[in-house]
Amino acid sequence: MVSAVSIVVLIALAGVVTTYSDGTKELVFVQTLWRHGDRSPTKTFPTDPYQEDAWTFGGGGWGQLSPTGMRQHLNLGKMLRAQYVTKYNFFPTKYNSKQIYVRSTDVNRTIISAMSNLLGQYGQNDSSSVAGVDYPDVAGWPVGYVPIAVHTVDDDTDHLGNMEATCPFRQQVWELAKTSAEVKNFTNSALVQSVLSKLTNYTGMAVDIDNLWIITNALYIEQIYFNDTIRQKNTWFTDDFFTQADRVNDQIQLFQNGIFNTSNIVNGHDVGVLTRKVRGGPILNDMVMHMNIKLSCQGQTTPNCTWINNLKNYVYSAHDTTIYAFFSALLIEEYAVKPAGGYPLYSAAVLIELYVDSVDKKPYFKMIYHEQDGSGFKDITMGIQGCPQNSAYCDLDILRNFAQTIKPDQPIDQWCFTNLNGHAGSAGVSMLLIGVILALQNNIFGLF
Ligand SMILES: *[C@@H]1O[C@H](CO)[C@@H](O)[C@H](O)[C@H]1NC(C)=O
Ligand SMILES: *[C@@H]1O[C@H](CO)[C@@H](O)[C@H](O)[C@H]1NC(C)=O
Ligand SMILES: *[C@@H]1O[C@H](CO)[C@@H](O)[C@H](O)[C@H]1NC(C)=O
Ligand SMILES: *[C@@H]1O[C@H](CO)[C@@H](O)[C@H](O)[C@H]1NC(C)=O
Ligand SMILES: *[C@@H]1O[C@H](CO)[C@@H](O)[C@H](O)[C@H]1NC(C)=O
Ligand SMILES: *[C@@H]1O[C@H](CO)[C@@H](O)[C@H](O)[C@H]1NC(C)=O
Ligand SMILES: *[C@@H]1O[C@H](CO)[C@@H](O)[C@H](O)[C@H]1NC(C)=O
Repeated sequence: MVSAVSIVVLIALAGVVTTYSDGTKELVFVQTLWRHGDRSPTKTFPTDPYQEDAWTFGGGGWGQLSPTGMRQHLNLGKMLRAQYVTKYNFFPTKYNSKQIYVRSTDVNRTIISAMSNLLGQYGQNDSSSVAGVDYPDVAGWPVGYVPIAVHTVDDDTDHLGNMEATCPFRQQVWELAKTSAEVKNFTNSALVQSVLSKLTNYTGMAVDIDNLWIITNALYIEQIYFNDTIRQKNTWFTDDFFTQADRVNDQIQLFQNGIFNTSNIVNGHDVGVLTRKVRGGPILNDMVMHMNIKLSCQGQTTPNCTWINNLKNYVYSAHDTTIYAFFSALLIEEYAVKPAGGYPLYSAAVLIELYVDSVDKKPYFKMIYHEQDGSGFKDITMGIQGCPQNSAYCDLDILRNFAQTIKPDQPIDQWCFTNLNGHAGSAGVSMLLIGVILALQNNIFGLF
């Protein structure tokens, strides 16, 4: 006989015990890295008739998330809920402050994308959250809406999420890469020179491989918002020329992410490896570190394990450049992204699921990609070198090895301020001098 008590117990358990297993593999942790949604251009070229005042949505001005972008993340949030709450019963049905941590870059569009996404995951009027408990029971508060904290760090020092964080070392590596035979051959090719010189003539700025993206990105967005007038206002704009310029830009992005056709050694420096270390290295290592701590804390009750033991989902809300650097670090940028276009699209998302096998006790991961709004979750695990072709799961050691290979040579906030051509930068050199001076002084005072 099923008593009322046991039903209550079952219901109570259903609320607490949320696990998902596939055969012997149990899901223990999910990390998510997504790009913000549709936005206005972050800047444009001088002769562009669509200057900052042309962009009025999302608070107005450059680089803001549009209502379309908000909807894209609302949709992705709903998809994540459908997968991890409804289907897997792994994430809780309502917001649990201990189980999710969201870290955004300190940019309006990534923060608001995260908020829109979380609205899709945990903010709907579906009676999973309770008025008066999870949100105020007052007129004017949207029914079901639960605000969720989105954390951030200073953008200039955000080496995980912001690929343009202040990092002179990264700049040095790129300047060196530009002197390599492969990049020079590309830059000096007739096609690239023709695209750059035409654009220099059209745009009122000296266009080179470093700033071409400003033009292709602005034109990409203007085709979404002003497609009916762009050809009259920018008389030189044609679909073919745009495609050509965009392809050139795609190749530059590959170079900038350390992807070269040749093993690109310049002055003894492997610019491919160095670039991947300085760009994708920090975030890949951060994710692997989370997984290592998650695993080492299993069954532990020490205070330093409380946070990770409770945590089920760590989220990075960031940029196309972040996803691309991450994929480049794993050498799957073309495998994962190219079929859908040159670069990660709006609301693109990578999911890294961590599993533990109950039989061999070993950790496994799965990598999943959401290409853009409207596409599903695609398994991309098999694209990673060393992962099996006959299984959906890959040994975590494969990912750990990649992380180790492209681990920054020093903590990134230090490495960024070293000098490529003397192992220590000016800061390091002066520390060395101070050390020598101190040693001499100590010697003078007879302390040696
Ligand atoms: C974010 O929005 C504020 C106004 O709320 C604006 O001043 C600022 O320029 C925006 N920053 C970015 C990076 O979009
Ligand atoms: C919330 O959902 C309930 C149940 O479906 C419905 O009766 C109510 O009208 C909804 N409230 C709002 C504001 O949509
Ligand atoms: C140089 O560029 C041309 C195309 O412009 C290409 O066919 C050739 O493979 C490149 N050579 C090298 C060494 O990259
Ligand atoms: C420069 O651009 C103008 C239009 O803005 C065009 O008439 C002219 O032919 C261009 N010159 C070259 C060399 O492309
Ligand atoms: C813009 O218009 C062109 C035709 O002139 C069309 O081929 C293209 O798909 C449109 N782009 C968008 C983003 O709507
Ligand atoms: C790199 O190699 C691929 C495939 O062979 C080729 O399509 C591409 O043009 C090459 N890129 C450069 C910059 O040489
Ligand atoms: C937690 O602290 C203990 C010592 O109290 C240490 O042995 C262990 O490695 C720490 N675990 C983590 C995940 O930091």
